[in-house]
Amino acid sequence: MSRPPFAIDEDIRRAETLPAWVYSDPTVFATQRERVFARSWQFAADSGKVRVPGQVHPFTLLEGLIDEPLLFTRGEDDRVHCLSNVCTHRGTLVCEGDGVVQGLRCRYHGRRFGLDGSFKFMPEFEGAAGFPSPADDLPEVPFGSWGPFLFASLAPAAPLDDVLAEMRARTAAMPLADAVFDPTRSREYRVRANWALYCDNFLEGFHIPYVHSGLSDVLDYGSYRTECFRWGSVQVGIAGEGEDAFDAALTAPGGDTRVAAYWFWIYPNTMFNFYPWGVSVNVVRPLAVDETRVSFLSFVWDASRLGKGAGASLDRVEREDEAIVESVQKGTRARLYTRGRYSPTREQGVHHFHRLLAGDLGGG
Ligand code: FES
Ligand SMILES: [Fe+2]
Repeated sequence: MSRPPFAIDEDIRRAETLPAWVYSDPTVFATQRERVFARSWQFAADSGKVRVPGQVHPFTLLEGLIDEPLLFTRGEDDRVHCLSNVCTHRGTLVCEGDGVVQGLRCRYHGRRFGLDGSFKFMPEFEGAAGFPSPADDLPEVPFGSWGPFLFASLAPAAPLDDVLAEMRARTAAMPLADAVFDPTRSREYRVRANWALYCDNFLEGFHIPYVHSGLSDVLDYGSYRTECFRWGSVQVGIAGEGEDAFDAALTAPGGDTRVAAYWFWIYPNTMFNFYPWGVSVNVVRPLAVDETRVSFLSFVWDASRLGKGAGASLDRVEREDEAIVESVQKGTRARLYTRGRYSPTREQGVHHFHRLLAGDLGGG
């Protein structure tokens, strides 16, 4: 079905929200895969996966949506590489598991590559003309790192440094280098709703008093605020009286005191939630127009602060969010709802997201 063009007014006081069909039309979903996700930076792995030379870590970029087989390696020269994990002969996956190796060897017909992806050797190809050529190397993929996080992108719309700049500056004093991935505190959730509805909900604290009574108790709702920047936004939660907050020195670059949490969002689908104990990374993976998988990955730098303040009950808050977002998904299919309006004081983050998304979808 062809859809009329739409725009999101840059003035939040006048703007209307995304048309409801953006959340429920499978053709819009397919367009987003190419125009939004294939050009985005994605959280790809914990840097501990390629800590020593020879270490390899295969992964799938945005499993269920982009499904690109990729591979992180650390070469003998101690440099990290991000490569296509598809053999340049007939397309087998080259590396099938984590490990420490001296080189890469395809198990189908024995083609060998260096840890930087360079072609090394192929049996029975003596007569092949113009062989080997650069096309026989494993393609390199843009990647970057920040603290314990590795990112990758197939065709980035902007440099990673630009995308992360604002978040890096505000968290410059945090002990990110000490954060260690804790698989026991990480889990996945399946949400029966469009990925963008999940993000919309994340991007406003407006619903906290209504939906999250437990979280609401530890925050000072009056001083909650949202700030937007080119590629994302941050919500700053100030701790209520007597509730756990960051040591002031850690939040000094952001100019805040008594911060309970920084909830950063990076367009289109990644959240970095900073709490006194560490960072909870949320990766929102679209699987279908009305189905989403969300990974919660915990990186801990101070285990003694776990279980306190805004970062205490992440599982409960997540279930509360899922239930409300699934309710919205049903509403987006209604004939009697088309689109809504924004609160100018409480929904700046949602408005900013919709502007970015409308821009990528060819609206304004
Ligand atoms: S597919 Fe890899 S060597 Fe043939
Ligand atoms: Fe919520």
